[in-house]
Amino acid sequence: MRCSILGFTLLVRLSCATRASISTPVVALAVSSFIRTAQAAYTLVDDHSGDSFFQNFEFFTQADPTNGHVKFSSMTEANTTGIAGFMDGGNATRAIYMGVDTTSQAPEGRGSVRVQSQKSYQHALVITDIVHMPGGVCGTWPAFWMVGDDWPTNGEIDIVEGVNDQTSNQMTLHTDAGAVINKPTSSKSRAAQVFTGSILTTNCDVNAPDQSKNAGCAITDDSGLTFGTDFNAQGGGVVATEWTSEFIKIWMFPRGRFPSDISSSQPNPSQNWGPPTSMFSGDFNMDDHFKNLKIVFDTTFCGDWAGNTWSTSSCASLAPTCEEYVSNNPSAFKEAYWAINTLQVFQDSGASKDTDSSSTQQKESAASNGKFIKNAAVTTHAEDRVLSEPDTDVERASGTGAESKWVHGPGGLQPRRRSGGAVLPKQ
Ligand SMILES: *[C@@H]1O[C@H](CO)[C@@H](O)[C@H](O)[C@H]1NC(C)=O
Ligand SMILES: *[C@@H]1O[C@H](CO)[C@@H](O)[C@H](O)[C@H]1NC(C)=O
Repeated sequence: MRCSILGFTLLVRLSCATRASISTPVVALAVSSFIRTAQAAYTLVDDHSGDSFFQNFEFFTQADPTNGHVKFSSMTEANTTGIAGFMDGGNATRAIYMGVDTTSQAPEGRGSVRVQSQKSYQHALVITDIVHMPGGVCGTWPAFWMVGDDWPTNGEIDIVEGVNDQTSNQMTLHTDAGAVINKPTSSKSRAAQVFTGSILTTNCDVNAPDQSKNAGCAITDDSGLTFGTDFNAQGGGVVATEWTSEFIKIWMFPRGRFPSDISSSQPNPSQNWGPPTSMFSGDFNMDDHFKNLKIVFDTTFCGDWAGNTWSTSSCASLAPTCEEYVSNNPSAFKEAYWAINTLQVFQDSGASKDTDSSSTQQKESAASNGKFIKNAAVTTHAEDRVLSEPDTDVERASGTGAESKWVHGPGGLQPRRRSGGAVLPKQ
């Protein structure tokens, strides 16, 4: 079996030829040293889930660089107005909540949040369990992305992004000149490049002469389940981004269909995850275009994308301009919120990855102690109890008891309470 798995002729010949004639330990050694050089072994470097999130992310309060009709709140302001905090119920377990103002007329721009990680990363596997995203609402432009300083010199990776009534997630890289992605049918081995999305544009350069300004290289998902209303209706899912020197890959797994190595926080994408939704790679080194990226979540309105495409979207019938619609219809933005169960960053530890089948099985059975499984159990518990005693439930769900700081949390933010103080399941 090994002989067919390892696509490396010399070693295959060695291990197949020697399997019959020399002792097993020698064969095992040869196999594991091959794997050491061939695969990333990911270890958790930062868990930004729960309270850590608001400790490790800072609120961006300047004018929106993309010219949105928005006012980004400070942490204190967001806490006071309740547009950031935590949320429980349904598939959300102390989920990081980032919403928008749904009550005020907003002629000067609607209240929202934009946060970025204090820490920047060079290469990463970012795994996020998103319960709900703001997509599919006319006037909105939500994004989950990574960006370096001195844009576009150090690059930008848009992981989840779209505007207005869009139903498909658009994944995009923005760089300076010299990064053009290959189509799967080009000279490189097609098998190594398979992904399920469709390429929209191939030149990542924001000034590419043959593309519209700032289009970047973009891949769209065709499933219709990875952005906005349909993504939310299925309870969201896991979005995973793997960034190496050679490629950037993005996977999206619907809730209930997460690979077991994600549930156990022992991710092994190349081994277990199947083809990604998108893969960006070409005859260039990613490291020349992507450096020290921070993780960003935001929801803006109108601006360079949602505003500029308003008149050609189905939203145009709602109001003459995007800004008018966003200013005058606060309650239209009730679904424009992020709810994020977990956000974890892994990096390649450089250690060997043991892919022996017996150890894979051990990892799978260890999944019952893993983050997502644990959360799922808590969620069920929370759902059961929320109906009768919401406040007690909040304390129990966090496992810290009545004296806990749950309500204000070490992050300083209140949990998001909907409908008069009850922690309700997401509608
Ligand atoms: C958030 O609000 C709560 C209650 O109003 C308060 O105790 C807490 O200090 C606030 N945190 C921040 C960061 O403003
Ligand atoms: C939770 O997720 C499941 C899919 O695993 C979905 O069917 C269900 O509707 C979601 N619940 C809520 C309240 O969104």
